[in-house]
Amino acid sequence: PAPGWAIEADVVVVGSGVAGLTVALRCAAAGARVTVVTKARLDDGSTRWAQGGIAAALGEGDTPEQHLDDTLVAGAGLCDERAVRTLVSEGPDAVRRLIATGARFDADDDTGEILLTREGGHHRRRIAHAGGDATGAEISRALVEAVRAAGIDTVENALVLDLLKDGAGRTAGVTLHVMGEGRRDGVGAVRAGAVVLATGGMGQIFSATTNPAVSTGDGVALALRAGAEVSDLEFVQFHPTVLWLGPEAEGQQPLVSEAVRGEGAHLVDADGVRFMRGQHELAELAPRDIVAKGIMRRMRERGAEHMYLDARHFGAEMWERRFPTILAACRTHGIDPVSEPIPVAPAAHYASGGVRTDLRGRTTVPGLYACGEVACTGVHGANRLASNSLLEGLVFAERIAEDITEGITEGVTEDITEGIAAAAEPAGAAERTEGPDERTGPSDPDATDTPDALGSPAGAPLLASEARSEIQHIMTHGAGVLRSAESLARAADRLDRVHDDAAAQLRRDGKTAEPGVETWEATNLHLVARVLVAAALRREETRGCHWREDRPERDDAVWRRHLLVTLRPDGA
Ligand code: SIN
Repeated sequence: PAPGWAIEADVVVVGSGVAGLTVALRCAAAGARVTVVTKARLDDGSTRWAQGGIAAALGEGDTPEQHLDDTLVAGAGLCDERAVRTLVSEGPDAVRRLIATGARFDADDDTGEILLTREGGHHRRRIAHAGGDATGAEISRALVEAVRAAGIDTVENALVLDLLKDGAGRTAGVTLHVMGEGRRDGVGAVRAGAVVLATGGMGQIFSATTNPAVSTGDGVALALRAGAEVSDLEFVQFHPTVLWLGPEAEGQQPLVSEAVRGEGAHLVDADGVRFMRGQHELAELAPRDIVAKGIMRRMRERGAEHMYLDARHFGAEMWERRFPTILAACRTHGIDPVSEPIPVAPAAHYASGGVRTDLRGRTTVPGLYACGEVACTGVHGANRLASNSLLEGLVFAERIAEDITEGITEGVTEDITEGIAAAAEPAGAAERTEGPDERTGPSDPDATDTPDALGSPAGAPLLASEARSEIQHIMTHGAGVLRSAESLARAADRLDRVHDDAAAQLRRDGKTAEPGVETWEATNLHLVARVLVAAALRREETRGCHWREDRPERDDAVWRRHLLVTLRPDGA
């Protein structure tokens, strides 16, 4: 179908978490015409679910240099040091500007100083929090209010489909499918010379995740189809302490923040033994990948399905004041952390990789930007440091807004492919791979309008909505917290079969699943899952959150480099 309607803007922001709304606010403040499109409601993304907080060197005695050191250690040799330096040095002021925008952080009643906690991998207290353990909800509230107050155009319930390009291959807008939004219902387009992907993560490729249902990798899938470079997808972070609700639990699971360990909770096995002691100098507060592996190892040794987080010693008053959200979630599921240890196990949490960008958020497609979890700026390397994600969204959003609004003033957006290649250097060589191709090519460079294959954003058969749980099952068993060449190869085969079955149906019946949000999401999940598995197979080592059981050592001689993936343009 051709787009039934079109909006003109200078900038279209896709996604409404901390990254997207900050870009929108800053661009609008500089005079740009901004449209924000978002898949559900404005506050339905991952930001709202962030508990622990936002990391920045705000405390007495702390410095950006110390924050940098902790970030580089967690990143296991693959961070881009220039990106990290940007993050930690610009972070404190970015947080102050967020406060000026209206976010209220927990502060000392007498001094007014912001209260700071610790999380895994941080050697100092540097995590600012709000509402105890509801930091993301407060940030989301403040930004949504500010966006509404600024009168920024927003389109909710809008699933983005594909990038539009002009005859020179530059970004010209996006197509989207909107449900129930009056005059903007159905398939439409936002035409704009700058598109900012701020679509969040892809946790829904696994059966159990802390991510909300909307985190289906739409931004990475769109960027791949548009010919942009994607990097480091193999590094999926599994949060160590997610409330364990049974072996069959699926979908979004309740998080038990690292801040609970930061305030002194212990990880114990069924006998009460603190098994992280002796595994790392920081014990329970080691970087996240190390704690997740420690838990998995102990679960294996004991034949257990989960471990426990014991914070009974906090007492009722501290639980209620400091961690009201987690307390309520546990009690909803019949567990009282005041009187019993909390059953926990790792679950998919964060994509450390994503759409490759330079330090101004520019991707390899002119005019296309990526910000927040969907992006790979280089700050996370092989494993993100806790609470650096909200900060990354904030800092790089401001940089993107500056770049776009300068570009609008000057009427130019340069091709930055070279700049990105240079950005990959500090962590060693980058290997470029052409990934599995599912489409006939990136958006037609001559098209300024809707691509022909709107019914199928991949240009490939649209998958039935049931494919979603099949993909999740394949990924959980083949490419989860523990991986091997064998498990990954099996996953790749099974993912290919999902695609081949749909292609065979298309040949036979001349059509596949009906276009709609669920079928597009399943198709996007499938594309990012295939690229992720290909990268995980290729990286024959264990590093950060990529744990290959058949290659248990980190191999700096060969693998201190990134895997960059683009889709083949010819569909061969
Ligand atoms: C948490 O509160 O443990 C999550 C923090 C994060 O993912 O950075």
